[in-house]
This record gives sequence, structure tokens and C-alpha cells, in this order.
Amino acid sequence: MSTPTRNWAPTHGDPYRSVPYHPERMPAGESLARAAELRERMDRRRTVRQFSPDPVPEQVVKDAIACAATAPSGAHQQPWTFVLVKDPEVRRRIREAAEAEERLSYAGRLGEEWLAALRPLGTDEIKPHLTEAPHLIVVFQQRYWLGADGTKHKHYYVDESVGIAVGMLLSALHLSGLGALVHTPSPMRFLQEVLGRPANEKAFAVIPVGYPAKDCRVPDLVRKTLDQVLVEI
Ligand SMILES: Cc1cc2nc3c(=O)[nH]c(=O)nc-3n(C[C@H](O)[C@H](O)[C@H](O)COP(=O)(O)O)c2cc1C
Repeated sequence: MSTPTRNWAPTHGDPYRSVPYHPERMPAGESLARAAELRERMDRRRTVRQFSPDPVPEQVVKDAIACAATAPSGAHQQPWTFVLVKDPEVRRRIREAAEAEERLSYAGRLGEEWLAALRPLGTDEIKPHLTEAPHLIVVFQQRYWLGADGTKHKHYYVDESVGIAVGMLLSALHLSGLGALVHTPSPMRFLQEVLGRPANEKAFAVIPVGYPAKDCRVPDLVRKTLDQVLVEI
């Protein structure tokens, strides 16, 4: 059953009318089976750092971004922008700027403790995926919104909201058969400039997307078990 599309428009401060919400109730047995299957499929998600050049339908990426944009957000302020960077020249500039920052970071700017935490992953300042992965998404946080008269209005729980949206994006990409990397060149200010984003936006992460390369390898990580992350009181 499809719902009619209504376009969002800024209504900051106006009360919502309430509407009935009755999603179809799933039998418990089906919930159990789906949850177990999802757990297993999500456990197979890995960060991909070597991408295949095989083309990926752009609609898959756009659908994943649309999934991300269904995320809950503080006061429903939806403080996110997803930039799908298609222009090869812009991608080249992002790579150049990111590698320049990363060179300084890996040369010591991060500090020994941070570098020691990264060392087991074997990452370095060379970031070929920025130009070579079939798609590149740059996620921005909208720290505030501007009223019609130019007044700044704060957004609430921006880090949490955008973090949840990116989690949903990664899940949607993975469940659609794609690999992705959350890349956070530090600092990321250059992205606002290279991508011409407005002053209320702050870069959150760069996410190359594609199929893993045939010879893709990932660190042999161990995840915490449910017992180690779950506290029942
Ligand atoms: C907020 C965040 C920032 C990250 N930044 C980077 C990064 O800049 N470069 C990189 O290679 N991996 C980055 N990663 C990926 C992590 O290293 C990876 O998720 C972690 O090692 C666990 O591996 P897995 O995703 O395969 O489970 C980042 C992940 C997160 C959540």
C-alpha cells in the first residue's frame, strides 16, 4: 500500500495534527525469524576500503539515502544533507585536500595515542577510494536553520540525529548488497568549501560506496558479544 507523497516544508514551531498509526502487527514467530536473520546479515557488514570499479545503479544509493532520511531526529528537525558527488573533478579535489590533511594527521598531528589506536587497522594517508569508488556521499550536519529574516535558530541533538541517520544509511547500503566506508578526514572543514555548502552545514563523514574489490581484504576484527554489550537489570 503506497502512501501519497507530501512534501516537507519548514513549519518550525507549528503544532502537528495527530494521525492514526497502525502498522501491520507481525506474528511473534515471524519477528523472531526476521530478527535472527537480520542479526546474521548485519554481522556480515564490514567496512570496505578497496572497491571494485563495477558500476552500481545510482538508484540503489539514492534509495539508501532516502532510507537514511527516515531517521528519527531531535524535534524532527532532520538536520542532515547528503551530497552525492558525481563530478570527477570535484572528487579529485576532495581527495587532494583529504590526503593533504591526512598526511599531517598521520605524521603526528593526531597524537601518539590516536595513532596507536589506528595502527592495527593499517590505514594510511592514501585514499584512493575518494576518486575510485563508484559513488561518493558526503554527509553534512545542519547545525542551525535560518529564518526568513536571516535569524539563526539552533537545531537540537544534531550529532545524535545525524549519527543515527548514517547508521541507517550504512545498514541500507549493506542490505542492498553494497560496501561502504565511513571516512572522517580530520579536520573536515575543506569539504564545506569544496562542495560549496552553506555556513550552517558542517561535514560529518565522507562515505565511498561500491561493491568490494575482488581482492578486498579487511582486518580480522572481533566484535563484542551480546553478553559484553547488554546489561539487563
Ligand atoms: C565515526 C567513524 C569514523 C571512521 N573513520 C574512519 C576513517 O577515517 N578511515 C577509515 O579507514 N575507517 C574509518 N572508520 C571505520 C572503522 O575503522 C571501522 O568501522 C572499524 O574498524 C570496525 O570495522 P567494521 O566496520 O568492518 O566492523 C570510521 C568509523 C566510524 C564509525
